Amino acid sequence: MRRVVAVSERRVETPSTVTLRFPYDAPAEPGQFVMVWFPGDDEIPMSLSYTDGPSKGVTIKAMGSTSQRAQSAQVGDRVGVRGPYGNHFDLSPARILVVSGGSGAAVLAPAAERARARGSSVTVALGATRAPELLFRRRFESMGARVEVATDDGSEGRKGFVTLVAEQLLATERFDVVWTCGPEVMMRKVVAAASARTVPVFCSMERHMKCALGMCDACALGPYHVCIDGPVFPADRLTATSDFGAFHRDSSGRRVPF
Ligand SMILES: Cc1cc2nc3c(=O)[nH]c(=O)nc-3n(C[C@H](O)[C@H](O)[C@H](O)COP(=O)(O)OP(=O)(O)OC[C@H]3O[C@@H](n4cnc5c(N)ncnc54)[C@H](O)[C@@H]3O)c2cc1C
Ligand code: FES
Repeated sequence: MRRVVAVSERRVETPSTVTLRFPYDAPAEPGQFVMVWFPGDDEIPMSLSYTDGPSKGVTIKAMGSTSQRAQSAQVGDRVGVRGPYGNHFDLSPARILVVSGGSGAAVLAPAAERARARGSSVTVALGATRAPELLFRRRFESMGARVEVATDDGSEGRKGFVTLVAEQLLATERFDVVWTCGPEVMMRKVVAAASARTVPVFCSMERHMKCALGMCDACALGPYHVCIDGPVFPADRLTATSDFGAFHRDSSGRRVPF
């Protein structure tokens, strides 16, 4: 499906993230993404942070020029949307550990929400640079998830990277699966900690995207196309490539180190 719709709601989530909601009645699963564009600007991929019902949503972190302009959209502004694309999280495991770094919570929150609704227990290791940047903390809490916080500057929760919290949880409790999204260096550490305890990990990956249909090769990651083989990957597929946590591709397709 592709449509030009009007922004119906704009919410500032943290100092660097904004959620835009819009009417878009295509069925969607948590983990999937849409391609979005604002008139006169480039099209970029965005995970659906709200997947249920006729009103979808994306949660945008201010990075470069396109995401900054997207964030400044106001209620009533037009936005082009196509999708949803890609695969999604398997919601069936009973004990789920969610490890979120920064804006990674955008894709993890709707998955956790659906899993909680199915009766799974969800523990969230939620990391951010500082307390005001903890994305969707209240949303996780109100769905009945247990939330353990880490901030780089120690302004809330454990001081340091969220991987410390994840490692401690994995060492002391039992989980059937780990879902993670955040910087790839962080996800690599999560994969190492969980794999040492034979807990399967699924990572939500980001790459440069153009077609989102598996045709242009822009989103190549080893032998995979993130747009159709992902964005959610089992960790063993990623660790078998030399790209995971080490290289991405720029807009011309050149492989560049992180
Ligand atoms: C599957 C997936 C899901 C994502 N989900 C989210 C999300 O929920 N929230 C969020 O904030 N970000 C998400 N991203 C990242 C987002 O798509 C952009 O990469 C990010 O916002 C930076 O864009 P920018 O234009 O601000 O950066 P810049 O560095 O300024 O980008 C430079 C140029 O590259 C283009 N560009 C940048 N990234 C991409 C890209 N991935 N594909 C195509 N063109 C690009 C820009 O339009 C611009 O022309 C996701 C990416 C993927 C692949
Ligand atoms: S974006 Fe074109 S192949 Fe994935």
